[in-house]
Amino acid sequence: MTTLSFLNKALTMKRLYVLFLLALGLVYSACGPDGPGPQPPGECDLTGTPYAPQPYTIPKPDSFPAIPIPASNPTTWEGVQLGRMLFYDPILSGDSTQSCSSCHLPAGNFTDNLKFSKGIQGIDGRRNAMALLNIAYSTKGFFWDGRAATLEQQVLMPVEDPIEMHNTWPIAMERLRNHPDYPTRFRQAFGISDCSEMSKEQAAMAMSQFLRTLVSSGQSKFDLWRKGLAEFTDEELNGYIMYFDRGLDLGVNLPDAQCFHCHGGETFTTNSYFNNGLDSVAALEDFVDKGRGEVTGNRYHFGQFRTPGLRNIALSAPYMHDGRFQTLEEVLAQYADNGFGVENEDPFVRQIGFPVGNGKYSGLTPSQQKDIIAFLHTLTDTVFIHNPLHQNPF
Ligand code: HEC
Ligand code: HEC
Repeated sequence: MTTLSFLNKALTMKRLYVLFLLALGLVYSACGPDGPGPQPPGECDLTGTPYAPQPYTIPKPDSFPAIPIPASNPTTWEGVQLGRMLFYDPILSGDSTQSCSSCHLPAGNFTDNLKFSKGIQGIDGRRNAMALLNIAYSTKGFFWDGRAATLEQQVLMPVEDPIEMHNTWPIAMERLRNHPDYPTRFRQAFGISDCSEMSKEQAAMAMSQFLRTLVSSGQSKFDLWRKGLAEFTDEELNGYIMYFDRGLDLGVNLPDAQCFHCHGGETFTTNSYFNNGLDSVAALEDFVDKGRGEVTGNRYHFGQFRTPGLRNIALSAPYMHDGRFQTLEEVLAQYADNGFGVENEDPFVRQIGFPVGNGKYSGLTPSQQKDIIAFLHTLTDTVFIHNPLHQNPF
């Protein structure tokens, strides 16, 4: 044996030994150290379960545009079912008491109907929980301030939020790996062959798939009326005309409420960021919650928030990013006053009502406000909130 080949052989032996140690470490770290101890090799093997995901076409009303689904996360029955379980399971929170659904309940259009959500151990957050209806159509960022760019990024955040679920993803994933059911479901949804391959990214993909199925049923009174299947009362019709500024073309002398500019389209939101005239501040720096500006750093964005969709709005009180209004009456009374003239207030907020000269507008009378509220109630979609596919699977 030459010195060279001897050296080679010694090196190979050493490499094998290192590999063996590495493999031991992997098996240990895959199934331990917080779990029931290191599992014997093969314990995490999932290949006995077939991987044959069924594509899922999310039902939507005919009038809605195609649902934008990212190519990197196609919707499957297995993914949606796994995501639904994760959404309703308190296993993801630090002390296993809080699930996503604690703050996003179907009955409240996937909100908790609180001013500020109660986080883990009852600590209050600083913003109002957001409705999740038609979230598949959001393309301009997530959260009130748009700080998450994609849904897949957004759903990772509540778990590690110190007020919301106060956990870490490594601990949450460890619990899921040691669970009797989840490893098989991750296999069915994502084709992994061993539980050590389960990742928070897959959990986020599954939850995002579930959230994208939360689409309107198309059965609200407004949808039926548009198809000629329901009749509007005079109040509802007046409200519709003011909301969409149809007065002129329908030959009616009703003011323009300007709502549709920001809350337009099938989901009743453009998803854009505005200051809709809620606060009177001397300088933009004085906004208590800087909103969009907190993310962009641009002072002109201080006090701007993402426009919420208004379908099912009657079910998700209180209103605004800080839940300051208990009722739609309070919301409309606010808009009726044409804002405060703050520097970055959107011009449409100042132009609500009839023009009365000098660039001023009349605002809305109490009865006009009532009519718009009557119209907003026609957007209530109880078929959506009672859809069995959206409920707690446990
Ligand atoms: C403690 C209450 C609470 C819990 C628990 C919670 N959320 Fe939220 N959620 C909120 C609040 C409050 C906001 C708005 C926060 C903000 O804008 O800063 C929000 C916003 C969101 C949004 C953004 C919606 C949009 O239109 O941009 C999504 C999506 C969401 N939550 C999903 C989840 C998921 C998934 C979970 C579980 C992993 C979860 N939430 C857990 C309270 C909660
Ligand atoms: C310039 C754009 C704009 C116009 C015009 C506008 N809104 Fe808004 N609306 C917003 C924004 C932005 C928010 C969120 C503001 C916040 O939370 O601070 C909002 C919030 C709301 C909310 C509360 C939603 C929730 O989930 O809490 C309701 C209800 C509402 N608007 C109804 C209306 C109606 C009715 C009109 C017409 C009279 C109207 N809006 C006109 C931008 C607008």
